[in-house]
Amino acid sequence: MAQKIVAGNWKMNLEKEEAFDLVNQLNEKIEESTVRVIAFPPSIYVLPISKMSQGKFDLGVQNFYAKSAGAYTGEISIPQVKSVGGSIGLIGHSERREYFQEGNEFLKEKVDAALENSFEFIFCCGEPLEVREVGEELNFVKKQLEESLFHLSAEQMWKAIIAYEPIWAIGTGRTASAEQAEDMHANIRSWVEEKYNEETAKSVTILYGGSCKPENAKELFACPNIDGGLIGGAALKADDFCAIINAF
Ligand code: PGA
Repeated sequence: MAQKIVAGNWKMNLEKEEAFDLVNQLNEKIEESTVRVIAFPPSIYVLPISKMSQGKFDLGVQNFYAKSAGAYTGEISIPQVKSVGGSIGLIGHSERREYFQEGNEFLKEKVDAALENSFEFIFCCGEPLEVREVGEELNFVKKQLEESLFHLSAEQMWKAIIAYEPIWAIGTGRTASAEQAEDMHANIRSWVEEKYNEETAKSVTILYGGSCKPENAKELFACPNIDGGLIGGAALKADDFCAIINAF
């Protein structure tokens, strides 16, 4: 069975006091649940937040570099992230792909580095609007997975978490309908089955991201192939984020 996850990607938002205030509220408001909760704050806050943690959510980083140490100005490594309490990282968020030109080959190196360092990761994929408009979204997303993820062994694939985030739905208020999201998720699971086997396909967690809000979370999470969400804007408000967690 795929694990159920609700993850919050804070992006480059919140100054220190605001971030700490959000953590205090999350500590207070997240109820006991069977859903795993993960927060991805800006990486400079990971250490203090790990000290404030009451174990209600795991902590991760929005980005990391594939090398373990060295002369890579401005980057952070997996061992560094682990040493301050982070256990998971996002790979290939569409904003990293678009603004920082991170391509499939480069992202593959991060996937390999994560596995080598026993570091969990959420691999993000998703198509831009112009690709969906010409009906090419399945080929586009399949290529992202084939070029960065499907070189893994079945055993390694069990550790992967995938997030489908159609770019046209991120931060736009325009959500994929539950049918559109479920259709892509079902396809992703079928590609994992084709490449690996049924057991692996059933075990891989596939999250939806893109304007997921308290209002639409229930409908999205009710879809058989949607195992949770990667939440941007709505993760910045404790009440909204907790309502999404409780939508399960
Ligand atoms: P959004 O962002 O919920 O604000 O659309 C999702 C994401 O980019 O992870």
